[in-house]
Amino acid sequence: MNANRLSALPASLLVVGLLASACGNEAPFPSLDEMDKLNQLHTMPRHPPADTTNRLADNPMASSLGNRLFHDPKLSSCGTVSCSSCHDGDGRTVAKAKADGCNGGVTGRNPPTILNVDYLRWFMWDGRADRLWNQAILPMTSEVEMNSNPAILRAQLNATYMADYTELFNKTPDDTPDPEVLANVGKLMQAYERTVKRLDSPFDEDVKRFLAAVDAGTEEQDPAYLGLKTFFRNGQCIACHQGVTMSDGLFHNLGVADSSDSAAGQQAKIDFILNWEYNAAGPFSDNRNGQDAERLEGVRSTLGEKRPAMEGAYKTPSLRNVALTAPYMHTGEFKTLEDVVEFYNKGGDEAGTFAGVRTQTIKKLDLKPEEKAALVKLLESMTGTP
Ligand code: HEC
Ligand code: HEC
Repeated sequence: MNANRLSALPASLLVVGLLASACGNEAPFPSLDEMDKLNQLHTMPRHPPADTTNRLADNPMASSLGNRLFHDPKLSSCGTVSCSSCHDGDGRTVAKAKADGCNGGVTGRNPPTILNVDYLRWFMWDGRADRLWNQAILPMTSEVEMNSNPAILRAQLNATYMADYTELFNKTPDDTPDPEVLANVGKLMQAYERTVKRLDSPFDEDVKRFLAAVDAGTEEQDPAYLGLKTFFRNGQCIACHQGVTMSDGLFHNLGVADSSDSAAGQQAKIDFILNWEYNAAGPFSDNRNGQDAERLEGVRSTLGEKRPAMEGAYKTPSLRNVALTAPYMHTGEFKTLEDVVEFYNKGGDEAGTFAGVRTQTIKKLDLKPEEKAALVKLLESMTGTP
């Protein structure tokens, strides 16, 4: 390895790195710290992390029942909208910025993909669900999505899924109280969604090859060099899109234009998730005192200081399979990845078009055309094979 690398700048001193590059005196990419981060980016684990709050999370029978339920429009009050109306199992979502639900309802935000979804720590753009099973309760009961309720779910479970349901939960749908019907259907949905994955992408191979090239001292000739370097250095993408999911699992205000009444993002939902009866520490959780409950307590205890920064903050999405999920951002503002890169390049949308205060990390980047093109190519390479 190049001896210069040992004295290279830590990635956290990005501003210093930028200055150095302006003087043509840049530390070689990657530094040791950047090597670590590169190593963490590739090769998704075969299975999402365990979820002990749903005892059926990895039960094959629950997963196959969940698959049928996910595609069943009869769970909705209008009889025409299923989960798969807005999220198909290939990872595609809807082509429009907002999706259509029952009775002319329109969602407030752009649907994310369900591919690899249970690798994430929080669900929904504003993090208002802390587990994948409780997430499913939100679209089922949302007036603009499936507009459903326990009676509709129970009727359809009785009509079509009675035997499997009864075997899995040791009671019939009729013997399941209202609030529990919602949780149980959510747990089946999660068991299915956990199996919907696309893990291996050209990006993973590129990073592995690039790391080998670094060892051989030939990294600058590697075709992924400029894309990765821009992702780490001039683009600063790695500050938030990190780890194997390419998300830090946190929430940031980038300054994405949003004039809707839900523009406050995470801030408006934090009390909801802490007090929700369906959260991981609530009575419907199969492990009320586990890690997830601790995680909620962590949120509660740091809330005072963090609350202002939560205004207008949204979850860092995974970039895996991002080529499949246009349009982009929680508002669906951008049609293409080129548009997204341009957004970052100009330092976000205009002041005054979004709620709260933009994070200091998002600044005008002044990327060269070849750096922008290399970033787009890198983002495209993150889509896995089915
Ligand atoms: C009418 C369209 C629509 C329907 C029907 C729908 N969703 Fe969604 N889904 C969305 C939208 C829009 C979001 C983002 C909402 C937000 O963050 O505020 C979303 C978010 C999600 C997420 C969170 C993904 C993430 O990365 O955080 C999951 C998981 C999900 N939906 C699963 C489901 C399941 C399971 C069902 C059926 C029970 C369902 N959806 C029904 C539109 C829909
Ligand atoms: C400060 C943290 C942060 C940095 C730095 C950052 N992102 Fe993001 N990224 C986010 C968040 C948060 C969102 C969602 C924002 C929203 O919708 O309001 C997002 C959204 C995206 C999306 C849209 C994904 C989708 O499914 O809609 C893409 C693509 C993306 N970022 C790529 C990049 C690239 C490329 C860079 C570097 C030029 C970058 N990001 C830098 C946090 C960050």
